[in-house]
Amino acid sequence: MPNKDLRDWIAEIEAAGQLKVIKGAEPKEEIGGILDIYQRKMGNPAVMFDEVPGFPKGHRVLANILTSVPRINIALGLPPQGSEMDLIRWWRGYMKDAPSHKPREVNGGPLLDNVAEGKAVDIGKIPTPVWHEHDGGAFIGTACMVVMKDPDTGWVNYGAYRIQSQGPDVATVMMSPGKHGRIIMTRYHERKEPCPVAVVAGMHPALFMLAGLEIPYGKSEYEAAGGILGEPVEVFNMPKTGLPVPANAEIAFEGFIHPGDMIQEGPLGEWTGYYAGGSRPEPAIRIATFMHRDDPILLGAIPAVPPNDNTFYLGAYRCGAVWNQLEAAGVPEVRGVWAHEAGGSRFWLTVSIKQLYGGHAKQAGFVASQCHAGAYSNRWTVVVDDDIDPTNINDVIWAMCTRCDPREDVDIVRGCWSTHLDPMCYDGDSDRRNARVVIDACKPFARRDSFPAVARSSRELDARIRTKWARDLPEGG
Ligand SMILES: Cc1cc2nc3c(=O)[nH]c(=O)nc-3n(C[C@H](O)[C@H](O)[C@H](O)COP(=O)(O)O)c2cc1C
Repeated sequence: MPNKDLRDWIAEIEAAGQLKVIKGAEPKEEIGGILDIYQRKMGNPAVMFDEVPGFPKGHRVLANILTSVPRINIALGLPPQGSEMDLIRWWRGYMKDAPSHKPREVNGGPLLDNVAEGKAVDIGKIPTPVWHEHDGGAFIGTACMVVMKDPDTGWVNYGAYRIQSQGPDVATVMMSPGKHGRIIMTRYHERKEPCPVAVVAGMHPALFMLAGLEIPYGKSEYEAAGGILGEPVEVFNMPKTGLPVPANAEIAFEGFIHPGDMIQEGPLGEWTGYYAGGSRPEPAIRIATFMHRDDPILLGAIPAVPPNDNTFYLGAYRCGAVWNQLEAAGVPEVRGVWAHEAGGSRFWLTVSIKQLYGGHAKQAGFVASQCHAGAYSNRWTVVVDDDIDPTNINDVIWAMCTRCDPREDVDIVRGCWSTHLDPMCYDGDSDRRNARVVIDACKPFARRDSFPAVARSSRELDARIRTKWARDLPEGG
């Protein structure tokens, strides 16, 4: 049995009613414009674009991929109808005891249906959208894997770093400081050697999901992906660089980044919903080999005003990570963590706890806003009681409105870890720090038993009514 590939996932989401096919949209603005509408509303399907003007029928683009819990569940091999909290619990378990399989090398695969080398390379054969109106060009790599090998240890890393098409055989890659790809590239350049690189732009979404997660330095994303897929990932070693790429990928190319070879890159609308990063010179990839399947599918994960393709799937993972780190820090009785999608998985965190002692809520809020998984680019951390569902923003705001005394319960924390992509990081601060707020929206611990009773059915009455009156109640709650 060959590995599951992107086409298997597409068949599964189609069977679950989670795919829309649109024909005839052109890639300069219409594909991006249509996706902007699909991304804005939760519950919308993934969108496949076919019959793109100027390209052969069958050369497709697929985006809005992981903006729904059922589609994420299908990618991870979980029951499609599992809830958001089930998904968060799954990530918690995965992080504590992640299975892994070493990749298996194979001599060929569907990726090699079409191979071009040297002057024959033309990545423009793939319909590549300008994803938003004000982008600096077409980006072939958004939901992509950028594969590199450490020159000293032979460790293979892959990460999702955006790739802009810059010509038939040249592209740029944007790797922020500290990203593993950038560390590896610098190692080659310090020896005055070109850095070999391979880019994969269409693969099973489980492989892509891991590309965007901070898998620790020295650990293999391929092994982790094998663990999620339940079998070794079959990889093909590219001819010029020897770098492994999934043998059933849709599109891949390899080449070299030469020291000092930079090309103006960007801008690209970002996950925060702004163009804060601008345009600047970034490393050029001179492409030696380009491969694609027959009827290739370019996979897109488009950053934009949240909820967006780029961050939505990261939310459940981040909640699981923050929850585990709260527990590891000794914060008891955490009942849920939620990263609201409007914050791109980072700017907003809600933590629900069963209060055990005075100061418990404040402890949970400060730890969540500063633990490793929660600290980067946070702005609001809100702690609520365990009767509040942290995924229900209406109830969270209600708690903030009615259980919070701003004199005592709102703390501003200054000088925290952020990024230049945060439009409110300190102006002129080379460290890109920010300020954030920790809100205790729990009932005051000392008054918890005398606090006014909640004017809502008890859980018991609610369960009785739902059973007896199911037929007459509104759908979905
Ligand atoms: C869709 C998507 C696009 C991303 N684009 C970039 C990017 O252009 N540059 C970057 O440095 N990080 C980007 N990231 C974040 C990195 O992929 C993430 O930090 C990942 O852990 C990097 O891999 P590494 O830990 O092996 O360096 C992106 C993440 C996602 C999900």
